[in-house]
Amino acid sequence: MNSPYDSVRVWDLPTRIFHWALVVCVVGAYVTIKLGGLWMDWHTRFGLTALGLIIFRLTWGIVGPHYARFTQFVRGPQKLIGYLRGRYNSVAGHNPLGALSVMALLLFIGFQAVSGLFANDDIFTAGPLAYIDSQWSSRLTYLHKLNEWVLLGIVGLHIVAIAWYQFIKRKNIISPMIHGDALVAPTHQVVSAQDNWKVRLKALLLAVAIAALVWWISNMAPTDNVSSFM
Ligand code: HEM
Ligand code: HEM
Repeated sequence: MNSPYDSVRVWDLPTRIFHWALVVCVVGAYVTIKLGGLWMDWHTRFGLTALGLIIFRLTWGIVGPHYARFTQFVRGPQKLIGYLRGRYNSVAGHNPLGALSVMALLLFIGFQAVSGLFANDDIFTAGPLAYIDSQWSSRLTYLHKLNEWVLLGIVGLHIVAIAWYQFIKRKNIISPMIHGDALVAPTHQVVSAQDNWKVRLKALLLAVAIAALVWWISNMAPTDNVSSFM
């Protein structure tokens, strides 16, 4: 039987890989810091990868396909109020409220990753830029630890919002984040996101450049960096 819905590509492959890789890195960084000890090396690896992913997403929000672009989903207060009053129905992509939570996630995870570069635990582990100034290292370590609670709050809200869509509104928004496509009524004229090999090659080249940048940053510490800031 034919489906009464049209299948539309919403999330391009690079955006989907970004999302699930970010989930792995944030959960990985969180679990390893709680395990401590020798796991600290893995904390910095997950953290540095999260940094690269956030830089990737911020750039992809400018040069990526339709629904990945900030200009497509970041809306002013009027659209947000209209959406909350039910006057505006978002068919595909982030809705105006979801966009706020996406920007908060990118901002606070980005802050966590950048502050981690300057953080130190006074024992074995220091971010690659922690040696620059010990006072700044202490301040940013404090903020890095404080931001844990902000992250728990916004990631928690994100998961509650996804569950609300799934179980209360009965709208499956998880599948499009896995295979890329959403089902929309044919009455809606919806743009399909470009997700061909050209888009994927562009993302790959960008990812390689960002990986090189993060690798370069991660090697900025002097080899005896731990003792140099203490
Ligand atoms: C540490 C955990 C998580 C983090 C940091 C996170 C982060 C994000 C970010 C940054 C976006 C925006 C995607 C973009 O436009 O690039 C997003 C969207 C999304 N996430 Fe997550 N996520 C997490 C966990 C999850 C989980 C567990 C699920 C589902 C099982 C999920 C489902 C989704 C979906 C469906 C969207 C798209 C929402 C929409 O249609 O507007 N996320 N997430
Ligand atoms: C999204 C990425 C990151 C997350 C979610 C994260 C999370 C955390 C959390 C929650 C703590 C505090 C743990 C506690 O007090 O129990 C912490 C501490 C720490 N993080 Fe990160 N972090 C990230 C990135 C980084 C990066 C990139 C580095 C360095 C390259 C780093 C280095 C450190 C250090 C050295 C500490 C120990 C501070 C201390 O114990 O005084 N983190 N991190």
